[in-house]
Amino acid sequence: MKCKFAGHNIEPFMSFGKMPIANGFLKKKEFNKEFFYDLRVGFSEKFSLFQLDEYPSVKKMFHKNYPFYTSSSKFMIRHFKEYAQWSKKFLKSNSKIIELGSNDGTFLRNFKNTSIDSFGFEPSKNVSDFAKKRGINSINKFFNTTNIKLLKNFEHNTDLICGANVVCHVPNLKDLFTSVEKLLSKEGVFVFEEPYLGAVYEKNSYDQIYDEHIYLFSAIAISKIANEYDLRIIDLIPQSTHGGSMRYVLSRKLSNRQKTKNVNKIISYEKKINLDNAQFCKEFKKNCEKSKKNLKAKLIELKNKNKKICGYAATSKSTTILNYCNIGPDLIDYVTDTTAEKIGKFTPGSHIPIVDHKLFKEKNPDIAVLFAWNHIEEILKKEKKFKNDGGKWLTFFPKIKVQ
Ligand code: TMP
Repeated sequence: MKCKFAGHNIEPFMSFGKMPIANGFLKKKEFNKEFFYDLRVGFSEKFSLFQLDEYPSVKKMFHKNYPFYTSSSKFMIRHFKEYAQWSKKFLKSNSKIIELGSNDGTFLRNFKNTSIDSFGFEPSKNVSDFAKKRGINSINKFFNTTNIKLLKNFEHNTDLICGANVVCHVPNLKDLFTSVEKLLSKEGVFVFEEPYLGAVYEKNSYDQIYDEHIYLFSAIAISKIANEYDLRIIDLIPQSTHGGSMRYVLSRKLSNRQKTKNVNKIISYEKKINLDNAQFCKEFKKNCEKSKKNLKAKLIELKNKNKKICGYAATSKSTTILNYCNIGPDLIDYVTDTTAEKIGKFTPGSHIPIVDHKLFKEKNPDIAVLFAWNHIEEILKKEKKFKNDGGKWLTFFPKIKVQ
C-alpha cells in the first residue's frame, strides 16, 4: 500500500531492496510462498516526515501470532515501570487511561489495583490474550475512530493517551490523531515514544527501517502534524530505548500546560542537522551503503578465518540488515533467540535457522553478531562467560566493532 499521510506522492530517495515481513519468521515448508515487497523510503518536506514509500497490509504484520512480547526484556519491564511512574504527574485518582498497542500489558500492569480506569488496544491476539490473563483490560482491536466508540465514557474524558513504539506503526495517522482529539480531556496529554529519526541519522542505525515502522519521526514532524489538529508539543524527552527514541508529550492547544525548554532546544538541534528538509537524505543513503559494504566484508573476512559465527537475537531489525546486506546461512550459521514463537523457524528472507538461546553457550561460537544491539548493556552483563571464554561480539552501529 502507498503511504499517503503527506497527501501527495513522495519520490523515494533510496531502496533497501526486496524485503520480507520483518517479523515473518517462517518454517522451511513456507519458503516458497514467502511475501516480499520493495523497501523504499521517502521524505515529505511539507511535514518533514520520513516515511516508507509502500508498506505491506497491516494484517500481514499484526496477527494472531505476533512474535513480540514486551516482557521478554527485563530492561523494557523496568522502562515501562518508570514510564508509568513518570506519567502519574498527569493523572488524578479517578483518571482514565488508554494505551495504544498495549502488547502484553507491561505498561498498564503498573495501574492494576488502583482506582484509575485503563484500557489498552492491541490488535495482535496472542499478546492481547496474554495481557487479559494478567488482568489487563485489553481490547483485541486496532485503535481507530471506529473502535474507540467501544469506550463511550472515555470521549473528551481521557487524561492520558499513551503508547510506545506504536504511532510509527500506524499508516492512517489522520485517523489516529482524530481519535486522540475525540478522547483527550481538556488538560489531558497524549504521550508516545518512538524510534527517533535524529538517532537513526546520527548512528546510521538504518535497521529501524522496516515494514512496521511506516514513519520515523522527528520533533519537527510531530509538531507539524500536531498543528493540523487541536494539539501541540509541550515536552520532548530523549529515551535510550530502541537505540534512541523520543518521548513526545502533546496537549490540547489551549490547555494550561506549560511548554518545557526541551522543545525549542531539540527543534533547533534538528534544524541544525537538516532533519526539517531533504538534504540529510543524501548523506544518510551514502552512510547506509558504506555500512552494508563494510559489514559484509567483515563477515566474509571472519568466515575465511574459519570463525564460527552466530547471530544473537532474531530481532525484527535484523531482517533489514540481513536482507539489505545479503547475508545468509553461508555467513551466519544460526541465530539464537529467547522467544518460543521464533525458535525452530528461520529468519525472514535470509533463511538462517533460529535456535533456542539456551544453546548459545553450548554451541560455543567464536563470534556473535549482536542484532539486539539496543539491549547491549543487558546482554553483555548476562553473557559475561561468552567473552571470558574467548568469544567476541560483533556490533555494527555506528561503525563495525569486534570486541
Ligand atoms: P525486537 O528487537 O524485534 O523487539 O526483538 C527482540 C528479540 O530479541 C526478541 O525475539 C527476544 C530477543 N532477545 C534475546 O534473544 N535475548 C535477549 O537478551 C534480548 C534482550 C532479546
